[in-house]
Amino acid sequence: MPGTKKVFVKTFGCQMNVYDSERIAESLIPYGFTETDCLEEAEVIVLNTCHIREKAAEKVYSELGRLRQVKEDRRASGKHTIVTVAGCVAQAEGAEIMARSTVVDLVVGPQSYHRLPDLVFRAQSESRRIVDTNFPEDDKFASLPDRSIARPAAPHSARAASAFLTVQEGCDKFCTFCVVPYTRGMEFSRPVDSLLDEARSLISRGVRELTLLGQNVNAYHGAGPDGKDWSLARLIGAIARLDGLERLRYTTSHPHDMSDDLITAHRDEEKLMPYLHLPFQSGSNRILAAMNRKHTVADYLRLIDKIRAARPDIALSTDVIVGFPSETESEFQETLQLIEEVGFAQAFSFKYSPRPGTPAAKIDEQLPEEVKSERLHRLQAVLAFETSRFNEGCVGRVIPVLFERRGRRAGQLVGRSPYLQPVHADGAADLVGRIIPVEISQAGPNSLVGVIRAA
Ligand code: SAH
Ligand code: SF4
Ligand code: F3S
Repeated sequence: MPGTKKVFVKTFGCQMNVYDSERIAESLIPYGFTETDCLEEAEVIVLNTCHIREKAAEKVYSELGRLRQVKEDRRASGKHTIVTVAGCVAQAEGAEIMARSTVVDLVVGPQSYHRLPDLVFRAQSESRRIVDTNFPEDDKFASLPDRSIARPAAPHSARAASAFLTVQEGCDKFCTFCVVPYTRGMEFSRPVDSLLDEARSLISRGVRELTLLGQNVNAYHGAGPDGKDWSLARLIGAIARLDGLERLRYTTSHPHDMSDDLITAHRDEEKLMPYLHLPFQSGSNRILAAMNRKHTVADYLRLIDKIRAARPDIALSTDVIVGFPSETESEFQETLQLIEEVGFAQAFSFKYSPRPGTPAAKIDEQLPEEVKSERLHRLQAVLAFETSRFNEGCVGRVIPVLFERRGRRAGQLVGRSPYLQPVHADGAADLVGRIIPVEISQAGPNSLVGVIRAA
């Protein structure tokens, strides 16, 4: 009987995990599950985890500590619970999780989600603990349920007008600080036809904006219907032609794979939003080489010039790491200089975190925590200034906003500008899911406020 059992999914980490969490919940729907945001009523609890930095990875263990009581309370009232750890911590530390936390019944790596219903069934019926972190031969996307199946109201549906679509997974770049090539495996691009089918299903559910995802999305080279490998730009072109879709985005890109056809798409594809997340990590060529980033500062600046020539109003975003092993004060200052030279609309900055098994963790000259913290603090002051400046530049402009949900205050709506800023405006609830011109009246550090001009 459909819909009698409940699954609770909690997501940590990147947007690819958000997408995976939706697919995980959907994979159980044909087996009679619905999604819940109430932990206590869930037969299956899934923690979809992130291993990128130590803090992220440790969160899973504190969460598991909390789950122990929930599981015990359910057991006391005769209810069984399957606690599942999925995602990148599952892949990196499968057996260790089982040893450290007896509350866990199932560990499933990111490549095995299509096997989840069977694994849950086995964990339950055989009363045993299972770890599945193989990289199977079969394509999980081909074996996961079709996305046109009706999904009952779920925690994720708050942003129903905007959806993620994973087009590429894994990474072969092996930046020396990063766990992703180990947790997600080698690069894999999904075939064009299956992506177009999934995009159509999502549009039929009311999605107006798609964000194409990949750990290295611009390395996309999926099999096209013509038997040739298609680039991301070509895929964007095909998805942009789908009726009903109004906006397209993609993330995360690597500077090394920022090809000319993709840059040109920013000029020619009307639906492609003027926003690009292009991590540079460090402004020092010596550190970039030690990171194995495959680009120099000059390469990055040349790229930015080309992108801005194609799309002058593009909002640029980036990721930066401070305190990579052996980074000197003057190398850190080069990072600050690069940031000032480019002028980013948005940026995510991190203290270097040594990750087990990565080459950078073995470098002798690890920096003290205080040095990393102090550099991060200075960096974030510069970045906050740049984001505010970008946001203030929007005041007085009329900007098309895709409204995604109601705001906290009655009568208020929240949407996104083309530049990905959250925009708050007063308006009727039936504007959710539509793109409406908004005159921006105020800019905050991370969002805008405006007045709807015409509906
Ligand atoms: N595939 C993307 C993002 C990967 S993870 C890319 O190549 O850009 C997101 C960000 O986390 C990275 O861009 C990097 O800035 C940061 N990061 C990754 N490993 C890290 C580590 N060991 N310590 C601190 N930050 C890290
Ligand atoms: Fe990690 Fe580098 Fe791959 Fe990005 S490109 S996922 S930072 S190894
Ligand atoms: Fe984290 Fe894995 Fe994403 S390590 S950032 S959840 S790819």
